[in-house]
Amino acid sequence: MAATIIDGKRISGEIRVELAEQTAAFKNQYNTVPGLAVIIVGEDPASRVYVRNKHKACAEVGFYSEVHELPADASEEQVIALIDRLNDSKEIHGILVQLPLPGHLDEQKILLRIKPEKDVDAFHPYNVGKIMIGDYNVLPCTPAGVMQLLARSGVSASGKHCVVIGRSNIVGKPMAMLLLHDNGTVTVCHSRTPDLKAQTLQADILVSAVGRAGFVTADMVKPGAVVIDVGINRNAQGKLCGDVDFEAVREVASMITPVPGGVGPMTITMLLQNTLTAAIASM
Ligand code: GUN
Repeated sequence: MAATIIDGKRISGEIRVELAEQTAAFKNQYNTVPGLAVIIVGEDPASRVYVRNKHKACAEVGFYSEVHELPADASEEQVIALIDRLNDSKEIHGILVQLPLPGHLDEQKILLRIKPEKDVDAFHPYNVGKIMIGDYNVLPCTPAGVMQLLARSGVSASGKHCVVIGRSNIVGKPMAMLLLHDNGTVTVCHSRTPDLKAQTLQADILVSAVGRAGFVTADMVKPGAVVIDVGINRNAQGKLCGDVDFEAVREVASMITPVPGGVGPMTITMLLQNTLTAAIASM
């Protein structure tokens, strides 16, 4: 039997309805509107689309948001001066610097400048450390979205073998940590892992964050596994697709996320969640 499809669009919509209700209650209680500031440097078209979508999503749940567009040749001092101003702003509870930044800017230095309380990406080393010890307020949006997809599909990592492919700071590493916090037994695989298939075949929950179309094939998946596809790629025909060979793997897995419509819609929703969490924590 073909796998159940985990519908990220539907789950994301449900969470946004909940967030809109919580935001209304927050406004009533504190007479304050949660505020998000997004900084984008340069003209990267994909980043511009993401930023526009974040702005729209804020309006949908009743947040205030502002977008700061800086030219591609903006200096580090300019970006830092803007972050300092937003750090001190009463209206702004969350600050997000859209990545990637142009090459002349020191990404770590800039991310470090955001006050940890306003770091709604959870990229600041302080928040990364909090996640490591399991005492966190905000979680990085993509792995947090995956955990919500699992939880709201009735899947717990407890007692399961979880295999994460990818070890980035944004997805792979925090993903492994969250599955571990959920009592999963976690293996992290990456480009230097020998015999990847031997690892993935052990997975009750398989999360792929590689960035290569068709990377996860049906012979790599244990029958009945839950397969989460974090990849966003274009195939040879230019069509949007994930890392997973969806049509073949859905015949093997018990549950699977599609691309588009799986993890993608969850990320901005988790950003909204983090912004509301930051606003509440600031009261
Ligand atoms: N660029 C791609 N994904 C992300 C993200 O989650 N946060 C930020 N700040 N930039 C990104």
